[in-house]
Amino acid sequence: MENVFIFDHPLIQHKISLLRDKNTSSKEFRELVSEISMLMGYEVTRDIPLKEVEIETPIGHAKTYVISGKKLAFVPILRAGLGMVDGLLKLVPMARVGHIGLYRDHDTLEPVEYYCKLPEDVSERDVVILDPMLATGGSGCDAVRFIKKRNVKSIKFVCLIASKDGVERLHREHPDVAIYCAAVDETLNEFGYIVPGLGDAGDRLYGTK
Ligand code: PRP
Ligand code: URA
Repeated sequence: MENVFIFDHPLIQHKISLLRDKNTSSKEFRELVSEISMLMGYEVTRDIPLKEVEIETPIGHAKTYVISGKKLAFVPILRAGLGMVDGLLKLVPMARVGHIGLYRDHDTLEPVEYYCKLPEDVSERDVVILDPMLATGGSGCDAVRFIKKRNVKSIKFVCLIASKDGVERLHREHPDVAIYCAAVDETLNEFGYIVPGLGDAGDRLYGTK
């Protein structure tokens, strides 16, 4: 599928296995989500443009490259997306962070919005949406629709584990949005959880169950 990137890097795959393990503690889970997000960030930021500059080294002149002022905004979907922010901010400390609050109604599985605060100049920015799980795709599609209303420059969607259905739905509704993930699982159960997945990402991050 075009515009879908699945990370097969051994470090990412190893850490995803630890993340899936039900015996992994909340502390380890948080650390792993942060580490995997940082590793994924390496590829997610691959298209940042560079400009040539001249720098004095202790020995002489160097023609070299720096990032040419690309403006990024990371937008985690609350709650679980918050766990991915610090890993990406370590790579791009100048990025701005917006927040979208969505939760899935447990009966209808439909996303319910309860918060949205984006950077004032978000229309001048390339937006990277963060959420560890893309399950039915409802929350992801809603977040993209919301952000598109602000006429941003581009949108990428970064998750850790996706379902086939979620990838297909997000891709169908928003083919312009590149999807980055570390695994695509086959199915969803009757409660909309990814199988085998990793359980409820928010609860595992914050120890709420
Ligand atoms: C989870 C997850 C996604 C959503 C994915 O959040 O973090 O936002 O479910 O499911 P979907 O693709 O079927 O919409 P949840 O609703 O559990 O909220 P939480 O992060 O506050 O726990
Ligand atoms: N949300 C989660 O946290 N996990 C799933 O498997 C599906 C939705």
